[in-house]
Amino acid sequence: MPNENKKCKHLAGLCEKLDKCEHYQKFAKYRDKVLALGNDSLEKTISVALSLCFVCAILVSISAVALKPLQVENKAMDMKKNILDVAGLLEDGTNIHQAFEEQIEAKLVDMETGDYVEDRDVTAYDQRKAAKDATQNIVIPRDKDLASIKAKAKIAKVYLVKEGGAVKSIILPVHGYGLWSTMYGFLALDADGQTVQSINFYDQAETPGLGGEVVNPNWRALWAGKKVYTESGEVALKLIKGVVDTNKDGSEFQVDGLAGATLTSTGVSNLIKYWMSSEGFASYLEKIRTDG
Ligand SMILES: Cc1cc2nc3c(=O)[nH]c(=O)nc-3n(C[C@H](O)[C@H](O)[C@H](O)COP(=O)(O)O)c2cc1C
Repeated sequence: MPNENKKCKHLAGLCEKLDKCEHYQKFAKYRDKVLALGNDSLEKTISVALSLCFVCAILVSISAVALKPLQVENKAMDMKKNILDVAGLLEDGTNIHQAFEEQIEAKLVDMETGDYVEDRDVTAYDQRKAAKDATQNIVIPRDKDLASIKAKAKIAKVYLVKEGGAVKSIILPVHGYGLWSTMYGFLALDADGQTVQSINFYDQAETPGLGGEVVNPNWRALWAGKKVYTESGEVALKLIKGVVDTNKDGSEFQVDGLAGATLTSTGVSNLIKYWMSSEGFASYLEKIRTDG
C-alpha cells in the first residue's frame, strides 16, 4: 500500500498547513463559537443558512462550468438533427453526426448580394448571434420588417443537400414573430428555389395545441410541393384561414391555417413573405436558378 501511505501523508501535510493558516484559525474560532450556541439562536440560524447558500452556490457554479461543453455539443447536435429532419434525411437510428457530415454542406450567403461568402469559417459562424451584433447585422426599417425581427445578420448560413454533384435541396434559415415568441425554423426548397420540400420550426414558444401546432408533423406535411413565387416573381405562399381547396386556382400557394391560432398563422405567412422576398433570399435563389 505505498500509494495509500503517500496519499495519507500528503493529506496530513495539507491539514497541518491549514491548521497553521491565520484565516483558517479565525474561521475555526468563529465556527466553534457558532456551534456552541443554542439551536434557537438567531446568529446560529443565519450562519447555517448562509453556509448552506455558499456551499450550494459553489456546487451550482461548478456544475454549470463543467457541463458547458456538453451543453454546447448537445445544442450543435440538435441543430444538425433539425437540418436533417427538414431535408427528409432523418430516420430512426440515423447517426446524426455522420449523416450531417456526409450529406449536408453548409454555406455562408451575403444577404445583400446573394453571393456566397468564402473567406469566413462556416462551422464557427452563428447567424443568430450575428443578428444581435451591431457590427454584423442590418437594422430593418419598420415598413420593411414584415417578420417583426428588427434586425437581420448580414450573412446567412444556408445548407445544401447534393446528389451526384447537383443540388437536391436548399435549406434556408427563417424566423419571425408569432403571437408570443420569435419562431426559428428552416425551410427546405427543391433546387428550383421555388418548390417547398418541408418546413421545421425548432425554436418557438407559441401555445401548445394552438400556435404550437407549427411543430405538428401532420401540419408540416401540408407544405410539401407548395410553390413560393408567382410567374412574376411575387411571394405568394401563405397560410389561409381554414382548409385549402385543392381544386381552386392558386391552391399551390396556400397552406391550411392553424385552427384557433390566426395570429401565429399570420406570423408564419409574414416570415415566409419576408425571407423569400428581396429583403431575404430572393437574390440568392435567383443566382442558384441561373448559375446552378
Ligand atoms: C391562453 C391562450 C393562448 C393562446 N395562444 C395562441 C397562440 O399561440 N397563437 C395564436 O395565434 N392564438 C392564440 N390564442 C388565441 C388568440 O388570442 C386569438 O384569439 C386567436 O389567434 C384568434 O384565432 P382564430 O380567429 O383562429 O380563433 C390564445 C388564446 C388564449 C386564451
